[in-house]
Amino acid sequence: MKRATASILLGILVICCCNEASNAGDRTLYKDPNHPLNRRINDLMKRMTLEEKLGQMVQIERSVASPQVMSKYFIGSVLSGGGSVPAPQATPEAWVDMVNELQRGSLSTRLGIPMIYGIDGVHGHNNVYNATIFPHNIGLGATRDPQLVKRIGAATALEIRATGIPYTFAPTIAVCRDPRWGRCYESYSEDPSIVRAMTELIPGLQGDIPPNSRKGVPYLGGQDKVIACAKHYVGDGGTTNGINENNTIATWHQVMSIHMPAYFNSIIKGVSTVMVSYSSLNGVKMHANRDLVTGFLKKNLRFRGFVISDWQGIDRITSPPHANYTYSILAGVNAGIDMIMVPYNYTEFLDGLRFLVENNFISMSRIDDAVKRILRVKFVMGLFEHPLPDYSMTKYLGSQEHRELAREAVRKSLVLLKNGDSGQKPLLPLDKHAPKILVAGTHADDIGNQCGGWTIQWQGQSGNITSGTTILTAIRKTVDPKTEVVFSENPDSGYVKQNGFSYAVVVVGELPYAETNGDSLNLTLPEPGPGIISNVCGSVRCLVVLVTGRPVVIEPYLGQIDALVAAWLPGTEGQGVADVLFGDFGFTGRLPRTWFKTVDQLPMNVGDEHYDPLFPFGYGLTA
Ligand code: BGC
Ligand code: BGC
Repeated sequence: MKRATASILLGILVICCCNEASNAGDRTLYKDPNHPLNRRINDLMKRMTLEEKLGQMVQIERSVASPQVMSKYFIGSVLSGGGSVPAPQATPEAWVDMVNELQRGSLSTRLGIPMIYGIDGVHGHNNVYNATIFPHNIGLGATRDPQLVKRIGAATALEIRATGIPYTFAPTIAVCRDPRWGRCYESYSEDPSIVRAMTELIPGLQGDIPPNSRKGVPYLGGQDKVIACAKHYVGDGGTTNGINENNTIATWHQVMSIHMPAYFNSIIKGVSTVMVSYSSLNGVKMHANRDLVTGFLKKNLRFRGFVISDWQGIDRITSPPHANYTYSILAGVNAGIDMIMVPYNYTEFLDGLRFLVENNFISMSRIDDAVKRILRVKFVMGLFEHPLPDYSMTKYLGSQEHRELAREAVRKSLVLLKNGDSGQKPLLPLDKHAPKILVAGTHADDIGNQCGGWTIQWQGQSGNITSGTTILTAIRKTVDPKTEVVFSENPDSGYVKQNGFSYAVVVVGELPYAETNGDSLNLTLPEPGPGIISNVCGSVRCLVVLVTGRPVVIEPYLGQIDALVAAWLPGTEGQGVADVLFGDFGFTGRLPRTWFKTVDQLPMNVGDEHYDPLFPFGYGLTA
């Protein structure tokens, strides 16, 4: 080797060593919260291998997660699917332990990037035993009270943090335009302006963005808040005949005036993530819709958080689902989805994604955009500084204060649709001092039924599934101690006639359902509901309380019913129902949806040309 060459090599070596040395103090720049956000992101990005980057883009289900899987594949996120819990009736401490166990796997990797745990908290922390279950969104829409919804967001954040979780897939800001849709109860209203107002859930969950801060950037107000997810982008509530995950046919003007507006509000309020819809828009699967995900959401609206897919959402780009998974990955990632809720077959996903990147079907800049967004959210949340939750917040789960808030929400959500015929004495408020009253119906004494879907189980479940107050228990607590309350779920008319009841309260409704299982073309009240109404209301003065996720066919029975109240899906705090029925509080709720006469009128929304409802949008009597 010539001397000159040797000295050049030596020189290079020295420079390299010096660089190493001068970098040494900086080695953990990204871990230092004193550095500006973008420097931390860029510093970390520079250190990451392709494998480490791709791992960040994966979200897996807790049932396939383990510390080993987290570290081996550099998994960026874990979720609980509906009903997916560490153990039946798990304590908040058990949840915290589970999160920490997985987190330690992530922290043990070379770069120690923390994973983010996400869960559906769509009406309170609904998978968790003993959590406060709030009314489903349709009931909150009836309150017309965005500040109440914001307080519910703050309470829900505390309950989610009680279990060590920093991320929730809420709010659903769908504008349900057809109650035949099985997810209509997840929608606040058919009216986009109500849905917009209710995006106050976001500052409730995440905290208020500081005044004059840049719009469109993800935000979290502290370790007692959780990051939110506006879903499902976009048009989920507009599918033909309300068929779940189907096609929304809409002009651009309709998209922009009905389905998009609540995204504007969400982004302005700093929502950290957006979930893509299973549905299609004018025949294009939203999971493959680059114009709307990359073009509109990221470029036009300048959304800076991350975009997450729905559960196996990329699989459903093809029909049948998963028919061409490589294509699904290509179309989904190139559309602009940053984090993929895989949720099970993560090795197949990672192999496919790596293949597509290595062969230039997906560009490195697309991967970098995705990973930067995910890291930005993680830094903004303080996840690097606070990756491991402790037990200090477990006390918030199902706290008395939160139950009181839920009870208030229930009171405000009730809509009085009928109160006696004209010329007749109103039945409400009910007489607390009547000697003997009858309570009947499948939904009178059933916590599971009054909570609906997305409660403990994905589909919800009838029965004594978590703690709370049933409507029957609430009635018993509210009436005079001398009043005899007789409960008979499905009495025959002879019995009702012969027992000298002053009046009857019939509580009937839909059985719990979620997503596609809730799609209904007839919207009839399931049996024995109609039978109970006939037997009881044909025999004694009666109030019917409907526990349903949406308007149902009621016109045929309306003549027999003396008074009618829509209670939606009130959740665990049934006391709120009795508070209003017996006059301790007045009725203030107003219909968040049009109540149709017959299903063949559907779709029919306020403002439509041929509007001929049984009860119009905004209707609600006072008593
Ligand atoms: C639903 C989402 C939900 C996700 C995770 C999907 O089936 O559409 O709303 O966040 O599952 O449970
Ligand atoms: C999961 C839910 C998910 C659904 C979607 C269920 O198995 O538990 O979280 O929303 O599948 O199909």
